[in-house]
Amino acid sequence: MKPTSNIKKRAEKLRETIRYHDKKYYDEAAPEISDFEYDRIYRELKDLEERCPSLKTKDSPTQRLAETTGKHFKTIPHRVPMLSLDNTYSFDELKEFDERVQKGLGGEKYEYVCELKIDGVSIELVYLKGELAHAVTRGDGEKGDDVLANVRNIPGLPVKLKGSSVPDRVEIRGEVFFTRKDFEAINEEREEAELPLFANPRNTASGTLKTIDPAEAAQKPLHILLYYVFSPGKLPFGAQEDSLEWLQKMGFPEDEHYRLCKTIDQVHGYCEEYQARRGKIGFDCDGVVLKINRFDQREKLGTTSKIPRWAIAYKFPAQKAETTLKDITLQVGRTGAITPVAELEPVLLEGTTVSRATLHNEDEIKRKDLRIGDKVLVEKGGLVIPKVLQPFPEKRTGKEKVFKMPPTCPVCGSKLEREEGEAAWRCENAACEAQVERRIRHFGGRDAMDIRGAGPAVVKQLLDEKLIRDYADLYSLTELQVAELERKAEKSAQNLVGQIEDSKGRTLGRLLFALGIRHVGVHVAEILASHHKDIWALSKASEEELSVIDGIGPIVSRSIVVFFSKPANIKIIKKLEKSGVNLKRLKEEEPSGEQPFLGKTFVFTGELKGYTRSEAEGLVKKLGAKAAGSVSKLTSYVVAGEAAGSKLKKAKKLGIEVLTEDGFETLVKKYKG
Ligand code: IVH
Repeated sequence: MKPTSNIKKRAEKLRETIRYHDKKYYDEAAPEISDFEYDRIYRELKDLEERCPSLKTKDSPTQRLAETTGKHFKTIPHRVPMLSLDNTYSFDELKEFDERVQKGLGGEKYEYVCELKIDGVSIELVYLKGELAHAVTRGDGEKGDDVLANVRNIPGLPVKLKGSSVPDRVEIRGEVFFTRKDFEAINEEREEAELPLFANPRNTASGTLKTIDPAEAAQKPLHILLYYVFSPGKLPFGAQEDSLEWLQKMGFPEDEHYRLCKTIDQVHGYCEEYQARRGKIGFDCDGVVLKINRFDQREKLGTTSKIPRWAIAYKFPAQKAETTLKDITLQVGRTGAITPVAELEPVLLEGTTVSRATLHNEDEIKRKDLRIGDKVLVEKGGLVIPKVLQPFPEKRTGKEKVFKMPPTCPVCGSKLEREEGEAAWRCENAACEAQVERRIRHFGGRDAMDIRGAGPAVVKQLLDEKLIRDYADLYSLTELQVAELERKAEKSAQNLVGQIEDSKGRTLGRLLFALGIRHVGVHVAEILASHHKDIWALSKASEEELSVIDGIGPIVSRSIVVFFSKPANIKIIKKLEKSGVNLKRLKEEEPSGEQPFLGKTFVFTGELKGYTRSEAEGLVKKLGAKAAGSVSKLTSYVVAGEAAGSKLKKAKKLGIEVLTEDGFETLVKKYKG
């Protein structure tokens, strides 16, 4: 068919849009549209080009992969191009794919291996003479960045392949990703440090792989799963299933989810099963990849210029729903930042009811042109926090209202301010009730002073009853006052006084984080603590002195100096000091050059005799390890004290090394020398 000028224009527009989004996705790791939307646009262009072949230009995004490589890494060509897969959202098309396979194999028997399509960042590992030599990103499909330094510390990734049957060169492809839990923890920390949040686990993984400092990347709990092994030499297997078993034998993390399917109906069953389970597997996956099991049959089917004929991706339908934006309310954070929140008509998404979603800031509302009363599209996207994607302007009745930021704080009424270059409006009144409440909650938080009983309800009650006015007042609470709360059946308040007492001995790093200094997250607080003998030494440091510390930038330095210049802050620190709260650097926080446990993850369970949980965690962290709360395949050691329960069981099941307290001490001594 000959294209009309309208069709030509449409195709050009689609190309331009795809190029724009390719750049956002591949170069900037900051996609603006969902995969679903991208696929829709891509398909429309492909369909147009198929109907009117003269539209197929050489530079059309359908003819080549997006070009991209970063500047900080060495560019390495892929010996075999990293192709993408054909994909579909429909079972009928899977059946058509199967019919093509049947025909292509001329009646031979064949099987599929179904795997989850992990929504991470693809990577190619190159092993030369059994040693990990390169880890190359996909880049433009022909060449990518060698990000080996950031990949080699991923727990469970062997840097040497064992055994004699390994060819000189082996290439293994897979996906690097974050679990949802780890992603949320990273974002929580960024939120505390007032850094922009990552949009999703995949962007975070992409950003981490491109981190310039490998030590920084090593702190992040990246995961890897491999799904494609090939070599110019002879491999000791000839089918996908055997290759996955071989990977496991070589020490790579195990894929617990793949399945051999004998018929397309079994494939269908697998897709439906995982579509229903996708929210519960712990990481983002956006579909299923089905692959012909036998390599010789793959060869027979071959590859078109851009996609293999032996594999296809079935994509899960997007988890989106339409609902009404009933209102936009405002939340006041601990630093006074005002966050607009979408109040939605409750709607069921992925098994949970969604009725609120953050709108981040005023500009975001303007950019999306969201109006109160609009019909909107919301997405759960595997994330815990749902997102409002867009309004449906065509469904407006005329009654919708444009949102306007009020001039004053909704809680205390003081004037809102917005600094140049900042996205958030702020309530500058440090005594604003909402801020005070959030500050106290933050002070007692898990990564701060860890006062478990001081949850949101208890803090609110303590404030309402005027038992406290700031976090330092927690230390003057009496058993009697708390008993009153307990009587009111506040179960979490039980033993609150004991917990508050315990918190007096926390590390300087925890205290610095607990104070809620802007831009000081957990990590920055630990760095600051390791460089100052006590809080008073830090309070006297100048901006210049602070900004020479590795990991402390000018914004953080400025913020620290401003914090200590305010008499109210000095007053509250003195109040803490008087109550007996530790303001000094503890021994375990002293700087250490050696990081022998880098890349290792410890889980402590049960009761230890010689250490509190936080002391033991501090000790391994100082040696470069991570301390996690739950056991997974990526745990390096589980240290089991008295009365260890389910975590110990899980460690045994997963075959993870379990240490007694004595064993732990021996290990630490060995490394500390
Ligand atoms: S196989 C030639 N298997 O999905 C076959 N890909 O368009 C190569 N992906 O960029 C791909 N999980 O990064 C394969 N189990 C899996 C996968 C998977 C995720 C990604 C891969 C590729 C894209 C396919």
